[in-house]
Amino acid sequence: MPHVRRSRPWQLPERLVTSEPLVLGRRSILAGLGALAASGLVPRPSEAAVPRNPKWTADDRKLTREDLATTYNNFYEFGSHKQIAKAAEALVTKPWRIRIEGLVEKPFELDVDELLTKVELEERIYRHRCVEAWSMVVPWTGFPLARLVELARPLGSAAFLEMQTFLDPKTAPGQRAFWYPWPYTEGLTIAEATHELAFLVTGVYGKPLPKSMGAPIRLAVPWKYGFKSIKSIVRFRFTEERPKTFWEEVADHEYGFWANVNPDVPHPRWSQKMEQPLGEAEKIPTKIFNGYAEWVAHLYPDLRDPVYFR
Ligand code: MTE
Repeated sequence: MPHVRRSRPWQLPERLVTSEPLVLGRRSILAGLGALAASGLVPRPSEAAVPRNPKWTADDRKLTREDLATTYNNFYEFGSHKQIAKAAEALVTKPWRIRIEGLVEKPFELDVDELLTKVELEERIYRHRCVEAWSMVVPWTGFPLARLVELARPLGSAAFLEMQTFLDPKTAPGQRAFWYPWPYTEGLTIAEATHELAFLVTGVYGKPLPKSMGAPIRLAVPWKYGFKSIKSIVRFRFTEERPKTFWEEVADHEYGFWANVNPDVPHPRWSQKMEQPLGEAEKIPTKIFNGYAEWVAHLYPDLRDPVYFR
């Protein structure tokens, strides 16, 4: 992964940001209101609201402007630079099959639309801290990853959850770069995957997730560096052994499996003490576990062990 850029393409005139009205995406209506919809009693999907979970608000920070968050991206499948939004439009997200396999009672496949009929959507405002030292605050729409784990019915022997992005070099030119270990792979322990903060995202700013941000379904694990939050997921596999992740495979001395945010553990090539919020003039100090320590620190047996912070 390259250094944080010195130029700041996102630095546009500052103005106060207000959240868009919270609206449901088309898919979302299937989730919560399927039966009612048939009766004609519900408003059009775009007018129905997903409830905001007041527990996750990031009060100390301003929401990142939508036009910045959706156009300043890391999505190596579409290029190793930030301006991939246009190229990512080539991704076909409908239909979108998801496979659940490995150490589960019975492997199965389903479409993301069907998955959304089985979950309840909510909105959460999360901080996101990239390992490159830029950050953002966005309102995600989605549901707890724990709910997917529940639907998957893993066996007692499952200790990890591996997740994978689509593989389609025809659509995603970045995947023709043979030196990367495609498809993008990430993993969590079962304790992390079932933690209340681990969130599967299907929308942002009250709209369906844009392709640049990992449509139709991506992960948000806000206490870890952004590369753990894998985009456009097609496969969830429960395993006994720790999965080898994409960035570990590329450079394991720089990007480890755990990747918990810690300002006191520098990246081998740069400091992690400060971060640059997208669209803001000043850098701010980075917090341990990206400010979520009170909820997640107990997941890690020894906080002095730097292995948990790479
Ligand atoms: N997922 C896939 N499949 N491919 C990627 O290149 N980049 C990761 C993560 N998920 C990446 C990915 C990194 S490094 C970050 S910081 C976030 O996505 C960026 O998310 P954003 O573009 O929505 O801000």
